[in-house]
Amino acid sequence: MSGSYSLIFCAIDTPDLQRAVDLSAQVAPVTGAIKLGLEFFNSFGPQGVERVMAVCPTGTQLFLDLKFHDIPNTVAGAVRSICRGFAPAYLNVHAAGGFAMMEGAKEACEAASGGRTKLLAVTVLTSLDETALGAVGYQPGLAERVVQMAKLAQDSGLDGVVCSSHEIAALRAACGADFELMVPGIRPAGAALGDQKRVMSPQEALGLGATHLVVGRPITGADDPAEAARAIVGGIQ
Ligand code: C5P
Repeated sequence: MSGSYSLIFCAIDTPDLQRAVDLSAQVAPVTGAIKLGLEFFNSFGPQGVERVMAVCPTGTQLFLDLKFHDIPNTVAGAVRSICRGFAPAYLNVHAAGGFAMMEGAKEACEAASGGRTKLLAVTVLTSLDETALGAVGYQPGLAERVVQMAKLAQDSGLDGVVCSSHEIAALRAACGADFELMVPGIRPAGAALGDQKRVMSPQEALGLGATHLVVGRPITGADDPAEAARAIVGGIQ
């Protein structure tokens, strides 16, 4: 394995359990890391996660992208339930849940996973633009809000945030070198954008200070997902 091992989390976004298992078996030996999200988890639950991890090499990192957002007691309980089971490498919550929610989630995460699970925050969903944010009562200033929420997450003890590529530079400056930045919306040169509007290449995102990248369809939509993953991993070495 190279130094780029586990920099790339492959998003396994499918409602088909067998396809998720097949994709993970092909891709995880190359990337060393996969991401499973709400669609998968709500379809197949912890047992589905275990089915997928069973076909991945030992040590494969899992990012469970469940974006918890509720009162502190409930989120801490949800985090505890996940981390007692299979302790993913990464789990996330919404920063909009506030300091107490994030702090409680982090404590639960540490205790239940024995320090094996890192906790990330979602700042502002990238699907929301200034107009949509205004409609839910937020003041203008999307970029400032992202930084403010990332700093709140850092103050709460979280390990990093999930952010878009155009937020990397500002967050790296605001939160320092040790804060993890997990970045989706990544496209190698020539790859189809799909529904992603603002994308960046893996090399550019890492150059700006991303610590991990989430790459889905450029790998999972390829005729040979393992080969597509190898090309991306090879391109960042
Ligand atoms: O297929 P693609 O590379 O676009 O997949 C990106 C993954 O990252 C998807 O699982 C998507 O839900 C997730 N994601 C994203 N943008 C965000 C947060 C998560 O694309 N802001």
